[in-house]
Amino acid sequence: MAKSYRIAAIPGDGIGVEVIAAGLEVLEALTALDGGFQLDVTHFDWGSDRFRRTGSLMPADGADTLRAFDAILFGAVGAPDIPDHLTLWGLRLAICQPLDQYANVRPTRILPGIRSPLAGVRPGDLDWVIVRENTEGEYAGQGGRSHRGLPHEAATEVAIFTRAGVTRIMRFAFEMARSRPRKKLTVVTKSNAQRFGLVLWDEIAAEVAREFPDVSWDKMLVDAMTVRMTLNPASLDTIVATNLHADILSDLAAALAGSIGIAPTANLNPTGAAPSMFEPIHGSAFDIAGKGIANPIATFWTAAMMLEHLGEKAAAARMIRAMEYVTADPTLHTPDLGGNASTKQVTDAFIAALAEVEA
Ligand code: NAI
Ligand code: MG
Repeated sequence: MAKSYRIAAIPGDGIGVEVIAAGLEVLEALTALDGGFQLDVTHFDWGSDRFRRTGSLMPADGADTLRAFDAILFGAVGAPDIPDHLTLWGLRLAICQPLDQYANVRPTRILPGIRSPLAGVRPGDLDWVIVRENTEGEYAGQGGRSHRGLPHEAATEVAIFTRAGVTRIMRFAFEMARSRPRKKLTVVTKSNAQRFGLVLWDEIAAEVAREFPDVSWDKMLVDAMTVRMTLNPASLDTIVATNLHADILSDLAAALAGSIGIAPTANLNPTGAAPSMFEPIHGSAFDIAGKGIANPIATFWTAAMMLEHLGEKAAAARMIRAMEYVTADPTLHTPDLGGNASTKQVTDAFIAALAEVEA
C-alpha cells in the first residue's frame, strides 16, 4: 500500500484561502501521477472569521491538535478590521512557538522567465537561502506597556538571545551552507549598536564555525547587508539572521527575485519532535483578495519544500521542474509579475506541466 502522510491545511485569510486551494489541487494531481504516496488532508477553518465568531483565531488546544500531523500547510493570516498583532500572535506564532519550529528557511532565486528589478542580474547571480531564527530574538514576546494613554506612557519590546537558541540556529545554518555547492555562510548581525544579544550571536557564530572547517563564512552588519544584497548579490549564498533582521531581509530578497508572490518558506522543527509548517512568505493581501489573481507559485514552491521534508524527494523535484516550466512562459505570469494570468490559469498550466516534465 502507498505511504500516506497526514497534512493539516490552514488556509487562513484573504488570498491564503485562494492559494492553498490551488496548492491542494496541484498536490492532488501530483499524487495521482506519482502513485508512490498519498496525502490525507484535514482542513482547519482557523483565522479571522473564526475570531469574529468566537473571539479566538484557533482553539486553545490548536497547536496540540497539530502534533498528530506529519506537516502543516499554512496560507496567511490578517484582516483589515483586526489589529495585525492579534492575528499574528493568535495564529501563526501560536503554532510556530509551541511546536518549536525554530528554523525558518527561505530560499530565493530568480526563476526562469522572471525578471529581477536589478539591472544586469542573471538568474545564477541570485541564489540564496536565508535562515531565520524563528523563536526568540526580537519576537520572543517579552515586553509590556505601562501608564496607558498618559503622556508618559511607556512600552518595552525586549529581544531575547539564549546560548541554546543561537547555537542551534547557527548549527542549522552551517549545515545548510555545507549542503549547498558553494559552502558559504554570511552571518548577519548588528553587534556594533546592539552590544549584548548580538555580541553573543557573533561569539557563538565563531564557536560553531570551528565545527565546520569546510564552510567559509563572513559577517555583515544588517544595514550594510541590504546594500550588498542589492549591489553584489552573487557574493552571497546562505545567510543566517535574527528573527527581525531576516524577516526584513527576506522581503527584500523576494522583491529582488521578482515578486513576493513566488517566495516560499518552511518553519522547521529540525528535531522532528513536532511537525513543521510550510507557507508562502506573503500575507493575506486584502488589496487583491477575491479577484482570482493571486500568484500561486509561492504556494507551489512551498508545497515542494513540504514534500522534500517528508522525504518525497522525487515528487519535490518534479514540482520544482513544473514550476520552472510555468514561470518560463510570460503568458502565465500573474499581475504581480507584470502579466495578466489568473490564479486558475497558472494552476491549470502547472498541473499540465506536472504531466509534461519527467518524474
Ligand atoms: P502582503 O504580503 O499580504 O501583501 C503585500 C503586497 O504584495 C500587496 O500589494 C499584495 O497584493 C502583494 N502580494 C502578496 N502576495 C501576493 C501573491 N501571492 N500574488 C500577488 N500579489 C501578492 O503584505 P501586507 O499587505 O503587508 O499584509 C496584509 C496582511 O497580511 C496583514 O494583515 C499582515 O499582517 C498579514 N501578513 C501575514 C503573514 C502571514 O500570515 N505569514 C505574512 C505577512 C503579512
Ligand atoms: Mg515578513
